[in-house]
Order: sequence, then structure tokens, then C-alpha cells
Amino acid sequence: MPRAIIYFYSGTNNTAIAAQMIQSELQNKGYEVDLFQIRKPLDKIPAPISYDVLGLGYPIHAFNPPQLFLSTIKRILPTAHNKPVFIFKTAGEPFCLNNASSWSLMRLLKKRGYQLLMDTHLLMPYNILFRYPFALAKQMYVHTRKMAMVIANDIANNKVTKRKIYPWTWLVMITIRYVLYWGARINGPFFHVKKDRCLQCGLCQKLCPSSNIKFKNGYPRFFFDCSMCMACTMYCPTDAIRPGVISWMRVSGGYPFQELHNDPQVPSEYINKKTKGYFKSFRSYYEKTQKLIDDSTGNYIQR
Ligand SMILES: Cc1cc2nc3c(=O)[nH]c(=O)nc-3n(C[C@H](O)[C@H](O)[C@H](O)COP(=O)(O)O)c2cc1C
Repeated sequence: MPRAIIYFYSGTNNTAIAAQMIQSELQNKGYEVDLFQIRKPLDKIPAPISYDVLGLGYPIHAFNPPQLFLSTIKRILPTAHNKPVFIFKTAGEPFCLNNASSWSLMRLLKKRGYQLLMDTHLLMPYNILFRYPFALAKQMYVHTRKMAMVIANDIANNKVTKRKIYPWTWLVMITIRYVLYWGARINGPFFHVKKDRCLQCGLCQKLCPSSNIKFKNGYPRFFFDCSMCMACTMYCPTDAIRPGVISWMRVSGGYPFQELHNDPQVPSEYINKKTKGYFKSFRSYYEKTQKLIDDSTGNYIQR
């Protein structure tokens, strides 16, 4: 039985959900699949050497992979001889700028002797700035599930899909990388909690992938190691956390994907040929990827 491992980083769960979907589709194809979430403390990381296929998943943060994800992958990846690897990334927008986020990872994989099968961009709802409508969140969830099938099919067939990265997008990506990296660190200690709302439940500390939250006198304190993943603010049950200068950008409360999926009252086609305004640019993502789904899976059976 072929063995695969998916290393992923996820702040607010979107990438974790995509990783689980890919795991389940690969298992349907007869793979044994392990998932490993990259978070601190970084111990007990399974060595990639004993796996036949590697998966790397991350959320796009300001057109880049999160620093903790990139540095960990750099550290653990041994040299290989044409070992197949696939990348998937979740993001709230279909911008072509987002594609450049994999540039450093692709270079690393090439240098270390891996064969990149695909670099798939999966649209999932924003966890910052503003909340997407539930119907769109549902569409994204259902569509990502179908894309997980395409990814699994392509891995099983060892199909290589090249992604084009425009040089100008690379320039933007590199510039913004350092702005976010230092901005997140400087802003970290400015996170604070509204004591009259805080339940002192410790959920924020448990969720923080950077181990950047410690409790003092019963309340959370925030330090410099923040990666701005927004997990603490999104899942705080009382919306008690104010993330410093980006407080106005916080999205409070997770997306109830499973409930939306099971609820027939929530339409599952928010973006369609008639979509106008802000979401108009999403149409071509859905058209292109639907074609991939049709080509790869034939008649999709709703599960
Ligand atoms: C600090 C930050 C920066 C982000 N930057 C981008 C971006 O450049 N482009 C984009 O489409 N989405 C961006 N997003 C949205 C996330 O990529 C998206 O919601 C993702 O699915 C979150 O994944 P997670 O739940 O696994 O953390 C950003 C989110 C955060 C928190």
C-alpha cells in the first residue's frame, strides 16, 4: 500500500479541512495517509523519508506561506530523488498574485530533488477583513471537496500540472513577505483581551500554532511570536480578543461548514454566470476548476 503524508499549517481550520478531504480521497484510492499539523512546539515531526508521496498545505498570508510553515518544511525536508510531492493552499481570493506564494517552496523542492506534481489553489472563506456569506462558504466547502478528488486522482495517476508564476507577482510577494513577517511580530504584544468578556477558558492558548499566548493572573498575555493566523480571535467564544492594530479586521466566529453543507435551505451556488460586483472575479476560478473536476471525475456523485 503506498504511503503519503500531508504536512500542513492551519490557523482557523480551512487548510485543515482541505487536508482531511485530500486524506480521505487518497484513502479511497488505496493510500495510507498520515496528517501532520505544523505548530509549536515543533517536536515529534514524522520524517518524510519513509513516505512515497508528500503533501504540503498552507493558508496564504499576504501572498506568502506562513513563516512557521516554510521554515519547518525547509528544516525537515531531506534530499530525495524525484519523490512526488503536491502543494495545496487555501485563500480567500482567486488573485493570480496568490500563485506566487509557492515560489520559495517550489525552489526548495527543486533544489532538494523532488518532483512537483501540482500546486493547487483552493478557495476557502476569508478569516480576516470580513466574513463571507454563508452560501458562498458552503459553495467553497463543497467545491474544495470536489477539488480534493481531482488532487487524489492526479496523485494516483502521477499527473504533473505546471503552474505559471508571473515575475511581477514574485516581486510583490517577496516585498510583502517581510512586511507581514515583521508586522505580525511587532503587533503581537498589542493583542489584548477585554477582561469583562474573557471567560478565562484557555481556548486561545490551545489554538495558537505559535505558542504565543501565556496566561498571567488568569488572563491571556500575547508576545512577539505571533504569525497573525487569527485563530484566537475567530474562535474566542465571547469575541474578547482585540488583535492590536488589526482589530477592525477580525472575523469573529468560525464558519459552520458541516451544518451549512447539511442545510438544504442554504443555496450552494452563490457564484454563477450572473455574479456581479466584488465577487465577479470569482467566476473564472469556478469555471476553470469545474472543468478540471469534470475532466478528472466524470460524473460527480454528490456525497
Ligand atoms: C494575515 C492574513 C493574510 C491573508 N492574506 C491573504 C491573501 O494574501 N490572499 C488571500 O486570498 N487570502 C488571504 N488571507 C485569507 C486566508 O488565506 C484564508 O482565509 C485561508 O483559507 C485561511 O486558512 P486557515 O483557516 O487554514 O488558516 C489572509 C488571512 C490572514 C489571516
